[in-house]
Amino acid sequence: MPIVGNALRIPRDRPSEFFQEVAARHPGGLYRMEILDRSVVFVYDPDLVTELCDETRFYKPVDAPLSIVRDFAGDGLFTARGDDQIWGQAHRILLPAFGQRSMKAYFPQMLEVAEALAAKWATADEVDVPADMTRLTLDTISLTGFGYRFRSFESPELHPFLRSMGNALTEAMVRNQQIPLVTRMKRRADEAYRADIARMRELVDEVIRERRAGGDGGTGGAGGVTDLLGLMLEAADPRTGERLPDENIRDQVLTFLIAGHETTSGLLSFAIYNLLRNPHVLAQAYAEVDRLLPGDTVPTYETIMKLDVVPRILEETLRIWSPIPSIGRAPREDTVIGGRYPLAKGTKCVVLLPPLHRSPKAWDRPEEFDIDRWLPENKAAHHPHAYKPFGNGERACIGRQFALTEARLALALVLQRFAVSDPEAYRMEIKQTLTVKPDNFTIRVRPRKPSE
Ligand code: HEM
Repeated sequence: MPIVGNALRIPRDRPSEFFQEVAARHPGGLYRMEILDRSVVFVYDPDLVTELCDETRFYKPVDAPLSIVRDFAGDGLFTARGDDQIWGQAHRILLPAFGQRSMKAYFPQMLEVAEALAAKWATADEVDVPADMTRLTLDTISLTGFGYRFRSFESPELHPFLRSMGNALTEAMVRNQQIPLVTRMKRRADEAYRADIARMRELVDEVIRERRAGGDGGTGGAGGVTDLLGLMLEAADPRTGERLPDENIRDQVLTFLIAGHETTSGLLSFAIYNLLRNPHVLAQAYAEVDRLLPGDTVPTYETIMKLDVVPRILEETLRIWSPIPSIGRAPREDTVIGGRYPLAKGTKCVVLLPPLHRSPKAWDRPEEFDIDRWLPENKAAHHPHAYKPFGNGERACIGRQFALTEARLALALVLQRFAVSDPEAYRMEIKQTLTVKPDNFTIRVRPRKPSE
């Protein structure tokens, strides 16, 4: 249609599923769609994606919807423009907080939060998996990253920060499919959006204020390793010698609060869903946990790193249900992909992860949940660019190890302590904001007896 293009055809609450349905009708591996004033090329053929992943030819563009998310995440790592000096500066300052040594140092705090989840589940019969995984991941990033306690498991309601964040992300998605004139006319929605952003910023200011008042530089509970906020407040960029401006520290704290929990809670929820649908894998996981964590053995970082089945469950979950359903790319110059599809410089390209991760060109029995794909001998044969749950190149996820350490621990602890079942045989319903996760997913949990 004139002006709006295909925008009205895209359902607001499930755009990703819509783009996948279109992909299923176009097995060639790419299609182009006009959305508002943009011409967007969707790509999911593994070989074409390989070209898009070439950093010398393509980059991550910060256009809609990320340019809208900038309203609240500003120049945080996720939404900063790659050619902007502040991105490189923050990336170099923060990188040390994501190394192996830091993961080990964060472990006691990750365990403290995972224990809070287990304590809640020990007294429950039915649990809302995504809601509790959200509590877990939000509390973990805020405690390990900023020394701040949300204490989410103490309240029946999710923290108000999450409501504001959910509202703001939803509004950002609405704006993504709306012409700017309509956005400007919707005064009420705009006021609510501004109020949600202000509430999130108040929380961020409180987090920073608490740290400054404590004056410990952020090495407190994290085993002598400076945490994210400590680095941002104290460290200088090794290249320029400059520190991060206060305004940018706020953007980064908010970015980490969002990026550091939304996705990992989705991963854990999808993982439990997959285990319930695949009882033979669940049995394998129980056997591994019983071997490495018998009885009520307290998990250590070293034991968690010895797990083999649990991390393969996570890898396969990220293939079948990627919490971030797409990543954006754009050509640096006019170019041609696949030898015949011309792309003008700056064309918005979207790599659709679900059809890429299930492409028959790259995966045998793509719809099957098979954790043996991730055995080292099978991994070596994978297509090099058919699996991108953490993005690509220099803008790939900085929190990958953090997420996988946290998720290994949480899943292992759940399996050590609980028999999980879903008598209602839950059918997957996807809830989408910037990420996707299961909606209305409740399961039954019972404390395990040693023989179960
Ligand atoms: C970037 C996925 C967990 C922080 C990304 C990107 C993806 C991703 C796909 C690239 C986005 C793009 O190209 O636009 C995931 C998944 C996670 C996860 C699937 C969990 C299973 C985390 C955690 C943190 C984090 C735990 C923080 C502790 C970030 C940040 C960026 C990012 C800051 C932006 C990096 C940059 O551009 O410099 N993530 N993420 N993520 N992620 Fe994650």
